[in-house]
Amino acid sequence: MSEPLQTSCDLMLFGALGNLAQKKLFPALYQLDRSGLLAPGSRILAIARRDISVEELRAELMSRLEAEVTAEEFDLNLAGLFVSRVDYQRLDFTDTEGYLSLNAWHDSGSQLIIYMATPPMMYGVIARNLRAHRCCTARTRVVVEKPIGHDLESSKVINDELAEVYHENQLFRIDHYLGKETVQNLIALRFANNLFASQWDQNHISHVEITVAESTGIGGRWGYFDQAGQIRDMVQNHLLQLLCLIAMDPPADLSADSLRDEKVKVLKALKKITPDMMEQYVVRGQYSGGASNGKVVQGYLEEEGADKSSETETFVALKVEIDNWRWSGVPFYIRTGKRMPEKMSQIIIHFKPAPHYIFDPDQKHLANNKLIIRLQPDEGMTLKILTKENGLDKGMRLRQSPLELTFSETFAADRIPNAYERLLWEIMRGNQYLFVRRDEVEHAWRWVDQIIQNWRDSGEPPKRYAAGTWGPVASIAMITRDGRSWYEDA
Ligand code: BG6
Repeated sequence: MSEPLQTSCDLMLFGALGNLAQKKLFPALYQLDRSGLLAPGSRILAIARRDISVEELRAELMSRLEAEVTAEEFDLNLAGLFVSRVDYQRLDFTDTEGYLSLNAWHDSGSQLIIYMATPPMMYGVIARNLRAHRCCTARTRVVVEKPIGHDLESSKVINDELAEVYHENQLFRIDHYLGKETVQNLIALRFANNLFASQWDQNHISHVEITVAESTGIGGRWGYFDQAGQIRDMVQNHLLQLLCLIAMDPPADLSADSLRDEKVKVLKALKKITPDMMEQYVVRGQYSGGASNGKVVQGYLEEEGADKSSETETFVALKVEIDNWRWSGVPFYIRTGKRMPEKMSQIIIHFKPAPHYIFDPDQKHLANNKLIIRLQPDEGMTLKILTKENGLDKGMRLRQSPLELTFSETFAADRIPNAYERLLWEIMRGNQYLFVRRDEVEHAWRWVDQIIQNWRDSGEPPKRYAAGTWGPVASIAMITRDGRSWYEDA
């Protein structure tokens, strides 16, 4: 990835026994350590409520690492060295006195990073308690996870609480999609290749599709998810971030604020979806029973802990318009859902056909280029170009052929780091360009809130779709009305 850091880091990890820390953060830190990227002397203080000794924690972490990384990546020695960097502090986050020992743990020569892998309602409490015990300076970096609130107002409350203690340039708000290698590749693709840069507007692009599909259901986290729904859980953050990276103007440089300024301009230009537009622009779905990966699965309302009357959506499809010069008349069709046929995230840029068509009239529907950007799995890009069919008897019959770039083949020697490795690495380097600024969060909420309000006002329940399908048929109808189809149906 890069050169190791010279300054050691002291990372205080609140919520260290939770799912995120255990499944993502510790494995990512281990990978950084294994790659020699943690500066010598860097330490981690795991903080949680459970009464557990540091030896027990380290033993648990060893098994956890073994389970989460591949067999080739798990090295007993390296893992042992890594867990020896980890200390444990039992703490009730609301217990002000308990914070005394945190200050004693921190070595003021190290870069202090506070990672709040906790419910957002704890951010303010933790921040204030840390300040009370002088456990932060203007150099401290603070990491918080989504969801930042459940609407614009509640996000302002959380952001205000953080702003009471920290300056915006200390805050690293995570959207883990920005840490994915292919997502960063969008920046390279667009701004390092003039071939695309010069074609990236309404003169050359007819429409854009963004799909983020998951095959899993809600399973064990019904309670959390039901309060959020797919629009808050995925659209307000991940999908709008992807849309911004596709739609933004070229930033002046790669600095955090240049990039984020451009993303904010896109969010501000999103066309409001008024109540009379809802039927044509928004589809909301909830999965019922069906089949997933060859197995019969339950519907959302039959999942463990479900409230049978819930009207929370597990699928959203939207036609998004951007009211600016570059994107006037170019719809972005975005959709995301649980219990889809497969786990797959991709972006498809549909270019306009050539202005004058001279080939077989029956093949006119083929005559546009497509750029398919696969975010996961099988990261890569395919450019569909038009070529002539081979053979004397084929005349000038056209076909769409792929120009293929599969990262795992092209860069076979390089391991693709996972999103949290990249993000933790950038935090340690103090680089905010892959993190979300306060105004981005708030503009995204403002836009999403009006859709949620329209749903509330209409009282219409989500449309059912069978698990293992691409969502309600209304989502197909939405795009078909415009004479188009989702990529997998084409
Ligand atoms: C999270 C959502 O932010 O992203 C989850 O809360 C979702 O509901 C997850 O499953 C998807 O992330 P990824 O990286 O697996 O696509």
